Amino acid sequence: MSCTIIVGGFFGDEGKGKIVAHIAFKDKPAIISRGGVGPNAGHTVQVGDREYGVRMVPSGFVYKDAKLCIGSGVLVDPRVLKFEVDTLGVKGRIFVDKRCGIITEDHIARDKGSDHLAKKIGSTGSGCGPANSDRVMRISPQAKDVPELAEYLLDVPLAIDAELKKGSNVLLEGTQGFGISLYYGTYPFVTSKDTSASQIAADNGVGPTKIDDVVVVFKAYPTRVGEGPFSTEMTFEKSDAMGIKEFGTVTHRKRRVGGWDADMARYSAMINGCTQAAITGIDRVDKDCFGVRDFAKLSKKAKDFIKQAEDDIGCSVALISTGPEVTQIIDLRDEL
Ligand code: IMP
Ligand code: MG
Repeated sequence: MSCTIIVGGFFGDEGKGKIVAHIAFKDKPAIISRGGVGPNAGHTVQVGDREYGVRMVPSGFVYKDAKLCIGSGVLVDPRVLKFEVDTLGVKGRIFVDKRCGIITEDHIARDKGSDHLAKKIGSTGSGCGPANSDRVMRISPQAKDVPELAEYLLDVPLAIDAELKKGSNVLLEGTQGFGISLYYGTYPFVTSKDTSASQIAADNGVGPTKIDDVVVVFKAYPTRVGEGPFSTEMTFEKSDAMGIKEFGTVTHRKRRVGGWDADMARYSAMINGCTQAAITGIDRVDKDCFGVRDFAKLSKKAKDFIKQAEDDIGCSVALISTGPEVTQIIDLRDEL
């Protein structure tokens, strides 16, 4: 039996979706449950030549034998959920905790229309900040109050506990990244909740003693969307010249790009209780590593980068992503 949490170590968009999908195919979890803020997060998963972007459904949906859940800490936008359920064909195996907070049109209007959230903080405009604010005020609807969600309702903690008792694997999928945690990030330029591993456990109703592994995903060249400090940021001129051009999955804004941040990696690994680090975008450190699936075939430059990252993080690098497709990965977990 094993319960694994996957979270982002930098500012989000580290490639968690791809790591979750890989682990799902390999470890065959009975349940993949999503924690985190809500539909402000966009996860990208590429299987073969098909690319999917998800905002509500767990990115592990590509592994077809898992039950998919959304934990009670998460905000659900019923419109976004319906769209994804319809387009991804996951009906029958997706469930929503009955206590999830609900995002209404009013929350979206308040998010997009607020100078503070939309302009100063650079929010995604998905309604999450105002919805969490109403939830704290105890005036927000819950999933059980929304008739269209009736068919999806579940007590997610009970479902997870039952699988863990049977000896199944469970994956808890985090969203966003450490740097935009309400508690530990670059406040006030943060999202509306903590994003660390402890929060992801709480979002899914899984007690800390039940967690076996915490995978923290770091990007070789971190990115940030929206406003806020970014100490290793480089100019777009430089990142464009390096061939690093990324756009947000939810907002389509151009992502700011920076260099590896050793201090942030260490602090983030500490607070997340990292047991296994993952590094994505190693093909940006050395283009020759694109698509490599065997550690021995990585270049010296890439291996040196990983060694340094391990020293910085204070934990072994167990997963190395060498391209966007789900099978472009080196998985060293069994060797550690
Ligand atoms: P909000 O979460 O929409 O309120 O946005 C607050 C800040 O967090 C903004 O800077 C967003 O760009 C950022 N943010 C929220 N969700 C994500 C995410 O999933 N990836 C990256 N940045 C995010
Ligand atoms: Mg994203």
